[in-house]
Amino acid sequence: MSEENKNCRHVAIIMDGNGRWAKAQGKPRTAGHLAGADNVRTIAIAASNLGVEYLTLYAFSTENWKRSADEVNYIMKLPSFFFGKYMKEFIDRGFRMHMLGELDRLPAETRKVLDDAVEQSKQNTGLNLSIAINYGSQREILLAAKHYAEDVAEGKASLDLSEEQFESYLMTAGMPNVDLLIRTSGELRISNYLLWQIAYAELEFVPEAWPEFTPEVLARCIDQFNNRDRRFGGIKDE
Ligand code: FPP
Repeated sequence: MSEENKNCRHVAIIMDGNGRWAKAQGKPRTAGHLAGADNVRTIAIAASNLGVEYLTLYAFSTENWKRSADEVNYIMKLPSFFFGKYMKEFIDRGFRMHMLGELDRLPAETRKVLDDAVEQSKQNTGLNLSIAINYGSQREILLAAKHYAEDVAEGKASLDLSEEQFESYLMTAGMPNVDLLIRTSGELRISNYLLWQIAYAELEFVPEAWPEFTPEVLARCIDQFNNRDRRFGGIKDE
C-alpha cells in the first residue's frame, strides 16, 4: 500500500454520465457504455497503484431494467467484451473479481461470463474488484434480513445480533465498509447503492462523466479523503 494512502482501503464509485458523454459527442448512448467499460480497466489499475484494496463499481441497478431493450441488451453483452479483452491482464495483475447483485436474473450467457471471472481469479490476493450488476441496496438488506430470519428459525443464529454479524449476510460479506464513495457526472444522489456499507464513508461528487474520470481525478479524490478528519461520530483528540 502506498505510504500516502493508509486509510482509504475501500473505494466505491457510481459510474454515471455515460449516456450524456456520448450524446455530447453526437454518438449513441451505447458508445458511452463502451467507453465506460474501457475506463473500468484504467481506473482499476490506478486504484490498485494508489494502494486501494477494494474497488466496488455500480454497473447496473435493479432500476436500470426500465431503459430501452436495446440499451439493456447492450449493457448485458458488455461483460463478455470486457472480460474477453482484459481478464488475462487482470489475472496477471493479481486482481480478484467479485459480483454484487442478483445474478440469477441476468441472461444465462452474461451470468456465465461473470461467474467465470470470479472463479478464475479466486486465488488472487491483489485488488478486490467488485462489479455491482442487477444490484439494489434495499433489496440486499431485505435478502440479508430474510436469510438471518431463516437461520434463527433453524436454530443456526441467535436473536442477539451485532452489526458485524449482520454484515456477514450482506453481498459484501468479508469486505470492510466503504471509506470513500465517488459519484461522477455531477449528480448528488446515492441511488440505492451500498446504503449499509457507506454509513461512515466520505463522499465525493465530481463533475466529470464516467468515461472522462481519469486516474488523476481518482488520485485527487483520495488525497482529499486523506486530508479529511474522520471522527466516526466521536470528537478529535486534544
Ligand atoms: C450510468 O450512466 C451508467 C450505466 C447505467 C452503465 C454503466 C456501465 C458501465 C460503465 C460498463 C460496465 C462495465 C462492466 C465491466 C460490466 P448513464 O447511462 O445513466 O448516463 P446518463 O446519466 O448520462 O444517461
